[in-house]
Amino acid sequence: MAGIIIVYWSGTGNTERMAELIAEGATAGGAEAVRKAVSQTTVAEALKYDAIALGSPSMGTEVIEEGEMEPFVAELEKSVEGRTLALFGSYDWGDGEWMRNWADRMKGQGAKLLDEQGLAVHLTPGGEDEEHCRDLGRRLAKAILKA
Ligand SMILES: Cc1cc2nc3c(=O)[nH]c(=O)nc-3n(C[C@H](O)[C@H](O)[C@H](O)COP(=O)(O)O)c2cc1C
Repeated sequence: MAGIIIVYWSGTGNTERMAELIAEGATAGGAEAVRKAVSQTTVAEALKYDAIALGSPSMGTEVIEEGEMEPFVAELEKSVEGRTLALFGSYDWGDGEWMRNWADRMKGQGAKLLDEQGLAVHLTPGGEDEEHCRDLGRRLAKAILKA
């Protein structure tokens, strides 16, 4: 069975909720989906999966979370060339700059991003956002099952 790992950091649960919905979609799409807070996994473990979804809210001033997620991404990015990757996260008052920068950074390392942009949701995912998250999971499953 093809596998997806969803690695995220979440302070108040919004990005974690996105991770749950993405996992639901990936499972519905026929893939095995494992969901891990970034503190519970390692880059070596993440690289065993066919696809990686990374989640971080916008923190600091339009950056990914700096204590745990940034070091993880800094190590992972050395090995993402050619890998299927999706990015997601929650934000509040900004305009999604952190996600645009994050997507550009990963594309610059040669990752195969599922979408040109990551999935950015305002605060807690509700209504259509929930479906966008599930859809991201389903499309990740499709991408690895056809590979
Ligand atoms: C220290 C801190 C810095 C933040 N910086 C930004 C920011 O630069 N831009 C923005 O849109 N939201 C910012 N936020 C808001 C969070 O991105 C938002 O509350 C998000 O929903 C948190 O997701 P989480 O529940 O997964 O932690 C910040 C929040 C905190 C606590």
